[in-house]
Amino acid sequence: MTTRIIRHIGELITNDPNMGDGTKVGRITDAALVVDDARVLWSGPDRNAPAADEMIDVGGAAVIPGFVDPHTHVIFAGERSDEFEARMAGVAYDGGGIARTVAATRAANIGDLREQSSARVDDLRTGGVTTVEIKSGYELTVAGELRLLALARELGDEVTFLGAHVVPEEFRHDRDGYVALVAGPMLEACASRATWADVFCDQGAFSVDEARHILSSARQLGLGLRLHANQLADIGAIALAVEMDCASVDHCTHVRDHDVERLASSLTVVTLLPGAEFSTRSPYPSARRFLDAGACVALATDCNPGTSYVTSMAFVVALAVREMGMSVDEALWASTRGGATALRRDDIGHLSVGARADFAVLDAPRAAHLAYRPGSSLVASTYRARR
Ligand code: NIG
Ligand code: FE
Repeated sequence: MTTRIIRHIGELITNDPNMGDGTKVGRITDAALVVDDARVLWSGPDRNAPAADEMIDVGGAAVIPGFVDPHTHVIFAGERSDEFEARMAGVAYDGGGIARTVAATRAANIGDLREQSSARVDDLRTGGVTTVEIKSGYELTVAGELRLLALARELGDEVTFLGAHVVPEEFRHDRDGYVALVAGPMLEACASRATWADVFCDQGAFSVDEARHILSSARQLGLGLRLHANQLADIGAIALAVEMDCASVDHCTHVRDHDVERLASSLTVVTLLPGAEFSTRSPYPSARRFLDAGACVALATDCNPGTSYVTSMAFVVALAVREMGMSVDEALWASTRGGATALRRDDIGHLSVGARADFAVLDAPRAAHLAYRPGSSLVASTYRARR
């Protein structure tokens, strides 16, 4: 297999605390990185660089592990900018618009859906994302969710079944019937196409008891669990996520101290989605509060047409630093290794020897520029290992 050396790296973020400056992000200045087309073979000071078959000189640029985006809804048709405009004029988000995207997605043919969705995945990749999780959830029928999951497998790296996004229109007078469909035939049909199951457990979506029932069925079918919790209100969803040992509990916009403590003594990662607070004009949760308590925090785009039409992890990092109290290093870690932890993966999100050769070369000498220069496209190239 061909080996390749990346030389003259101004700052290499390895996320290996045994490397470089000994911090959590394992920073090496004036570094080199050796990879083959699958794995990291070596990293260290450029002056000690070994020989390789090919050489890329990045001329002092920073290199980071590829972003891991553990929460997206990129497969949908249409857009809802009118709702965004209304929110900016004072209207609150209540999840009601999801039905509009369900109608548009159901009506889209597979070619159009693939074209629109893959353009969003391309944007994410251009911006340095090497692993993307994609949820279903905009068809809410057995055949429709199957179609979305097939597309998610084609376009993404981790696939999540979200049949429990909202109760669709046709079940408006029979929500128990919909919960039974999701927990029974829909999950049975969909389980082999997904690794994960998620539920939107919130005011106006699914209750804690409904979510527990659906997640329990999913677990029996061998799926890992994740949860949308406390985006709109605190209905006790975080406690459920911890009770069910969800890999990740996402949003956590409205949080109380007892939940922070619960999370800190669990293996459940808190995935924060500042694009959603930005686009719904909601108060940002404090990442500091979770970090200081000892919880593991990840960052994700939540790319969706309703609450966060965001395809830039760099923008998410900038928001987390500016609005959520994270240091730059904490946000870098949370957007790479934190996302990997939220997906229970240890082969990605870092550049230790043996990790997947997934990394991004920046158009900047230091990774801090991602937060320092928001709005510029600072990812020069994204390298994804052979899958
Ligand atoms: O994560 N909260 C639920 N799902 C999405 C929003 C979906 C939509 O509004 O279309 C979210 O924010
Ligand atoms: Fe979401």
